[in-house]
Amino acid sequence: MARPASTVWDASLYLRFADARMRPALDLMGRLDPANGARPGHAIYDLGCGAGNISRILAERFADSRVIGIDSSDEMLAKARSQTPDARVTFAKGDLSEFKPEVAPSILYSNAAYQWLPGHVDMFPALMKLLPPGGQLAIQMPRNHDAPSHALMRKAAEAGPWRDKLAGVGGIARVHEPARYYDVLKPLSAELEVWETIYQQVLTGENPVAQYTSSTGLRPFLEVLDPAERAAFYDTYAGMTAEAYPMRADGITLFPFRRLFIVARRA
Ligand SMILES: C[S@@+](CC[C@H](N)C(=O)[O-])C[C@H]1O[C@@H](n2cnc3c(N)ncnc32)[C@H](O)[C@@H]1O
Repeated sequence: MARPASTVWDASLYLRFADARMRPALDLMGRLDPANGARPGHAIYDLGCGAGNISRILAERFADSRVIGIDSSDEMLAKARSQTPDARVTFAKGDLSEFKPEVAPSILYSNAAYQWLPGHVDMFPALMKLLPPGGQLAIQMPRNHDAPSHALMRKAAEAGPWRDKLAGVGGIARVHEPARYYDVLKPLSAELEVWETIYQQVLTGENPVAQYTSSTGLRPFLEVLDPAERAAFYDTYAGMTAEAYPMRADGITLFPFRRLFIVARRA
């Protein structure tokens, strides 16, 4: 069984499920206005850009725009830089909780990153204020907390000698009800769309749900354990998820996953 070997952001493990993770990124991108990609002197920001996969697609879609990816992980940024030959796409290290753009943004785009930041909802109005009239804030976050994949993290945390070490682990910051984001952004928006989609993700391989979450939501649990405990905890969690998400006769495991989308146009 493939277990996570370390707890720093593992770009290769994250990218193993690139297809399933790409679809929502593209669905979000589909709501961006091409006019915002053609504003002279402005840039499109990819906030929490990870390995830069989406930054590169943004640059392909918006051929007249600079794209700047921001991330706090050296490992992700190294991968992003090594895979991005296009000079229009650059990457910078930064913490999203104190984001200050060096170039005026026309679009602030973020796929699957803000769920890591406690209090993110209160950061969104400030992001809107960085945009020119007509500019867009586009954010996608997983909202799968109530699914077995996430409930079983807590159950596995309580099911072994690691219980005390994992007692205070919070995991991903809770993503709120859609209406909360609507209410916060509405006063600053000329147009505002908030919606959810549950993707029926098609995964392959052994215990794919545990492998999927081990590069994201399970990381805070894995981080506080030593290697031997980490392996035992992971196996416990993987056994639970294999039961909750059985492999089908064709070798496929379906992993339903709820995601929240926000697209706001600055008034
Ligand atoms: C799940 S990955 C998404 C990567 C990319 N957006 C994609 O869709 O492929 C989340 C990314 O957010 C970054 N991240 C988490 N917290 C951050 C913070 N406070 N500031 C900057 N980046 C952060 C992580 O380093 C990671 O690369």
